[in-house]
Amino acid sequence: MVFSNGDVPDDFGVSGVSCYFPASFVRQEALEKAHGHKEPGKYTIGLGQTEMAFCSDKEDSVSLALTVTQMLLDEYEIDPSSVGFLGVASETLVDKSKSIKSALMPLFGDNTDISGVDVKHACYGGTQALFDGLGWLHRTYPIQHRLAIVVCTDIAVYADGPARCTGGAGAVALLLSPGAPLVFDNGLESTHGHHGYDFFKPVGAHNCEYPIVAGKESISAYLSALSTCYKLYKRKSKAYAGRDKLSLVDFDAACFHSPFTKLVRKAVAVMVAEDAREGGRVRGEEKMEGIVAGLRAQEEPSDLSVISPESLKASEQTWQEITSPNLEMNRRLGNMYTPSLYVQLVGYLSRLEEEKREEGRERRILMYSYGSGSMASVYSFTLNEGMTERLRRMIDVSRSIVGRLDEREERTPEEYGETMAQREKFYTQRVPSTPSSLSSSSLYPLFPGTFHLSSIDDQYRRQYARVDTRRV
Ligand code: ACO
Repeated sequence: MVFSNGDVPDDFGVSGVSCYFPASFVRQEALEKAHGHKEPGKYTIGLGQTEMAFCSDKEDSVSLALTVTQMLLDEYEIDPSSVGFLGVASETLVDKSKSIKSALMPLFGDNTDISGVDVKHACYGGTQALFDGLGWLHRTYPIQHRLAIVVCTDIAVYADGPARCTGGAGAVALLLSPGAPLVFDNGLESTHGHHGYDFFKPVGAHNCEYPIVAGKESISAYLSALSTCYKLYKRKSKAYAGRDKLSLVDFDAACFHSPFTKLVRKAVAVMVAEDAREGGRVRGEEKMEGIVAGLRAQEEPSDLSVISPESLKASEQTWQEITSPNLEMNRRLGNMYTPSLYVQLVGYLSRLEEEKREEGRERRILMYSYGSGSMASVYSFTLNEGMTERLRRMIDVSRSIVGRLDEREERTPEEYGETMAQREKFYTQRVPSTPSSLSSSSLYPLFPGTFHLSSIDDQYRRQYARVDTRRV
């Protein structure tokens, strides 16, 4: 028997977003010097990063998830009993069996009727959790009228070497519901799954959190999966939504998984060249007809990671208008793995001005999710112009999150290096244990209301505490 008390709404999507990042950061310019680069610019210009967030051994993927979930509940005044789905994505595992989701359950009080568990696939997991949350809403909302939450939480740390500067840390929480300001475009998601070893964390390979990474392969894999997904997304847009010759001109924002923002710059160049080859429009093409005409005549390059000067030029306006401005948090926090794509929604919303929103034109946001190994998807949201009050809240929350970047404390490269050594040591420390950073709160500050790891008992069970919610 099927019970139903109404039609399935057609405007499910994101109706709340929050982001937590640690209170300490190191400047990339300082890291370049400390890592012995004689010429400045490799990390800042070459990789497009300005700062990197990091945390001490008293924060882990669970504490980050606790903090951001509590922030979302508070900022959007969500009644914990109204939540029926909680999906968590992370590749920073603290347990091979027990989920992070289960550690978040105390935040929901008496409400134990909450579906969802953890999803793991490198930086892609948040996208799968989002798809799962939307699927759960479609199945249950007309009957139960309950909400879904998706949490992405990761700490990106690398061994000494060229990848270390591409670390970062943070967590994002998304509230999913009908009547959402960011409506998911049903039926267009386009995916590329592939077996490869570009970035992975095999059991037993390292006695710490560091991955094995084939940097150049990971870049090629990211860009070629993007090209495959984008072509497929265009085909589906034509077949199912009647949109022929769709191009990035049709989007108000294009957001990407961002390990470092220079890779995103290359991704935009790949897509614009793709648009040109397929006869689609290119932003600003009237000012550079020769270049765009040249791209239109070119074959697709066999190695997409080699970006031609023409495709860089042809994509500059697109980059400046719909992608670069949303990347501020990515430039200043670094790679956060699963949250890296979703933090750009915060960047986008923080800049969305009321006047602009009232122009009345349709605003669409393209999303590219990539997780090594690999899984990748292109999908999109449409901004729902009708939901002004909820959107206003999302804009206000996003602005206050971006403002918090300036409240962090800068640390030297030496202090950053010591913190990485401290995390390595803690990873293999005999239990029971307590994080060593707990005894030096001035060097390792936490924002008010942050959850942190307080101890690990002799059965490896982790205990968490919360710092005062007031500023001291
Ligand atoms: N001034 C300006 N630019 C410079 C300078 C300088 N002084 N020195 C170097 N550069 C440029 C290079 O020309 C290059 O730019 P290009 O790619 O446009 O040619 C860029 O800086 C990087 O230099 P490389 O020599 O290519 O860097 P390296 O090989 O040492 O490491 C890498 C880069 C591979 C990205 C490394 O940091 C890494 O492995 N990171 C982790 C893997 C990763 O993030 N992969 C992405 C997808 S998978 C995921 O998300 C985890």
